[in-house]
Amino acid sequence: MKRITVVGAGNVGATCANEVAQRSLAEEVVVVDLNEGASHGKSLDLWEAAPIQNISTRVVGVGNDYSRTAGSGVVVITAGLPRKPGMSRDDLIGTNAKIMKQVASEIVKYSPEAILIVVTNPLDVMTYAALLASGRPSQKVFGMAGILDTARYRAFIADELGISPRDVSALLLGGHGDTMVPLPRYTSVGGIPVHELMDEAKLTAIVERTKKGGGEIVNLMGTSAWYAPGAAAAEMVEAVVRNERRILPVCAALHGEYGLRDLYLGVPAVLGANGVEKVVEIRLDTKEMELLHQSAAAVKNVMKILDGMDLFDGKTFGS
Ligand code: LAC
Repeated sequence: MKRITVVGAGNVGATCANEVAQRSLAEEVVVVDLNEGASHGKSLDLWEAAPIQNISTRVVGVGNDYSRTAGSGVVVITAGLPRKPGMSRDDLIGTNAKIMKQVASEIVKYSPEAILIVVTNPLDVMTYAALLASGRPSQKVFGMAGILDTARYRAFIADELGISPRDVSALLLGGHGDTMVPLPRYTSVGGIPVHELMDEAKLTAIVERTKKGGGEIVNLMGTSAWYAPGAAAAEMVEAVVRNERRILPVCAALHGEYGLRDLYLGVPAVLGANGVEKVVEIRLDTKEMELLHQSAAAVKNVMKILDGMDLFDGKTFGS
């Protein structure tokens, strides 16, 4: 791919730009940020790492000049405030929705064919905001949360069992918040169902830690995580650029799947060159379905706040 843009030169954006460059997914990675110093400085630092890392991808900082992002095939949007201790992701909506509106409209002006991957919180609703602001088809606008949340879950399972996290395969549904739904029934380790290896109490403790995994980091550092979020976003970029058709947990638009419609929510999906190629519907038991619908209700409540901000001329999902 010729060009990939990362909006936001904060910690998540810079980590993502680094991962995208290291995976050689484009000839050029453009980093946009209102903070010109951060955009130029971090990009220069990354470009100066290229000779050591043995890669050719050019990382370029462009400040706030969106014309330099023209013709990007994929755009990762990380712009916005991160949370501070004591805040929920939903508390960020007032500020971040306005930023998302501005960013997504600027992006499509110069890259009308781009696939947009949203990382800004509150994730599920910011992905919806990017859909409204960009006017792109919903298949081409999706969010990163499930890869991060499952990565945390997989890391905790690996710790508990003393094995490599690579061998933990897992699935997690729902919103990127306390209502996310890890699915032990769909979790395996080297092909072995996790229930064969761990008792229920330990698994429950891991599920609970996963749900609060973002907050655990915020409490330790005073701001939110970046290595795992940046790497997770790059994983999605790679699936698109290389048309890998991977099945990954994606914050995708739902049009009736799982009995839900007109919202973005974490579900397993096939990711490829066209973005979300397919939402995969798995069988859920009554309890799992109930938790998923609770999570959807929590996301819909935050969507109402966004709709109430009246940023998109009365446009809502599907209208
Ligand atoms: C987290 C933030 C990025 O979960 O939402 O770490």
